Amino acid sequence: MAKTATLKIDDQELELPVIIGSEGEKAVDVRKLRSTTGYITYDEGYGNTGSCQSEITYIDGEAGILRYRGYPIEQLAEGFSFEDVSYLVIYGELPTPEQSAEFSARLRNEAPIREGMVRFVQGFPRGAHPMAVLSSSLNALGAYHSQMASNNHERDLKHFDEAAAIAMAKVRTIAAHSYRVVRGKPLNYPRPDLDYSENFLHLMFSEPYEEYKATPEVASAINLFLLLHAEHEQNCSTSTVRMVASAGANLFASTSAGVSALWGPLHGGANQAVLEMLNTIHANGDDGSRFIEAAKDGKARLMGFGHRVYKNYDPRAKIIKGSFDKALESLGITDDPLLDIARRLEAAALSDDYFISRKLYPNVDFYSGLIMNALKIPVDMFTVMFAIGRMPGWIAQWHEVASNPKSRINRPRQVYMGPVPRDVM
Ligand code: ACO
Repeated sequence: MAKTATLKIDDQELELPVIIGSEGEKAVDVRKLRSTTGYITYDEGYGNTGSCQSEITYIDGEAGILRYRGYPIEQLAEGFSFEDVSYLVIYGELPTPEQSAEFSARLRNEAPIREGMVRFVQGFPRGAHPMAVLSSSLNALGAYHSQMASNNHERDLKHFDEAAAIAMAKVRTIAAHSYRVVRGKPLNYPRPDLDYSENFLHLMFSEPYEEYKATPEVASAINLFLLLHAEHEQNCSTSTVRMVASAGANLFASTSAGVSALWGPLHGGANQAVLEMLNTIHANGDDGSRFIEAAKDGKARLMGFGHRVYKNYDPRAKIIKGSFDKALESLGITDDPLLDIARRLEAAALSDDYFISRKLYPNVDFYSGLIMNALKIPVDMFTVMFAIGRMPGWIAQWHEVASNPKSRINRPRQVYMGPVPRDVM
C-alpha cells in the first residue's frame, strides 16, 4: 500500500500522499493542502520544499554525494571531457564516440557569434562587470535566433539540439569577448582546431602579436573546473531558470536569468568573494586568525565555507583540492601568501567548534577561486567561468520543464503580514 502522512488540523484529518524518489528521498505531497484545508506551508528559503521531480542530478548533502544522471562525480572527474559530461547532463547518457564527435562539431560550428552580437557586446562600457555583459548577451541571443526563442515550448523544443549547442558554444565566446571588451582589448575569434577548454583560453588570452598556447595542465584544470560545475540540481540559479521557464520563456531568456541569480555573492559570486576576502586578510596583516574570530562573532562571513545542502565536505571541493597541488606544481607556484592564509583558514575552521557544530565545511568555491587565481583568470571572471560550466545543467533543467506536459507556472504563495483594510480618509 502506498505510504501516506496524516495531518491533523482544526479537527480535520488529512491523508497526504508520500512520494519516494529513486534514491529513497521522501516527500510529503501537499498539493491538495490548501484546497482541502485552507492552509499553505511556510518555508522561507525553501529549505524543506521540493519544487519539482527531476531525473538529472542526485545529491546527498549529509553523505557528501553528487551524481550526474546516476554517475558519481568522482568517476566523471577521472578523465572525461567537459563536452562529454555536458552531453550526459543534457541528454541523459554518455555519448557514443559518434555522438561525441557530432556534439563537438556542433559546438565548434556554433562557437562564433554574429557580427551584430559582436557589436552588441562591444557596446558595453569599459569597467562593466562581465556577468552583466553575459546575462544581457545571453538574452540577446534569443533575438538573433528567434525561431528557437518563440516563447512557445512546443515550437522551441523542435530546435532544442541547435539551441542547446548555441547556448553552450556561445556562452564561452561571449564570456571571453566580455573579458576583452571591458579591458579595451581586441576580440579573438574561436579556432575550430581547439577543444572547448583550449578554445576558451585562446579566446581570452591570445593577442594579435602572440597566440596563447595552453599547457595540458592548464587546459585540464579548466576542463575539471567546468565539469565539476556542470549541474547541481535546484540551487538558486537553477531554480531561477526553471521558474522563468515555467512561464513559457525560451532557453536564452531562462538561462540569462540564471546568470543574474548566479552573480550573487552567496551563490556563484562566492568564488570571487573568496579571493577578495583573502586579499583583504593579507592587506590587513592578519594571518587569518583575526578573521576567523570575526566570523565567529557574526561580524564577518568566511566565504567559501558552508552550504545549504552539504553538511559534509562538498565532494567537488574534495576533487578540486586533490588536483590543486598538482596544478600548482605544474605552474611552478610554490610560495603564495594567499595560499598560506587559505590553508590556515581551512585548518582553523575544520578544528573550531563554531564551524564543526554548524557543519560548515569548505565548499567548491573555496578552492576554485584559488585555482583560477593561479591560472591567472582575472577575479571578475571567476563567476563567469562558473556560468560557462553550469550551462549544460541549466539547459537540461529548462528541457525538463519545457517538455513536461504537466508543467505548471511556478507561483509560490505568501503569508501576508501588512496592514489590515483601512480607509485613506
Ligand atoms: N561563515 C561564518 N558563519 C557561517 C557561514 C560562514 N560562511 N555560513 C553559515 N554560517 C553560520 C550562520 O551565521 C548561522 O549561524 P547561527 O546558527 O549561529 O545563526 C549558521 O552558520 C547557519 O547558516 P545559514 O546562513 O542559516 O545557512 P544557509 O544554509 O542559509 O546558507 C550559505 C548557506 C549561503 C552557503 C552560507 O553558508 C554562506 O553564506 N556561505 C558563504 C558564502 C559561500 O561560500 N557561498 C557559496 C555556496 S556554494 C555555491 O553556491 C556554489
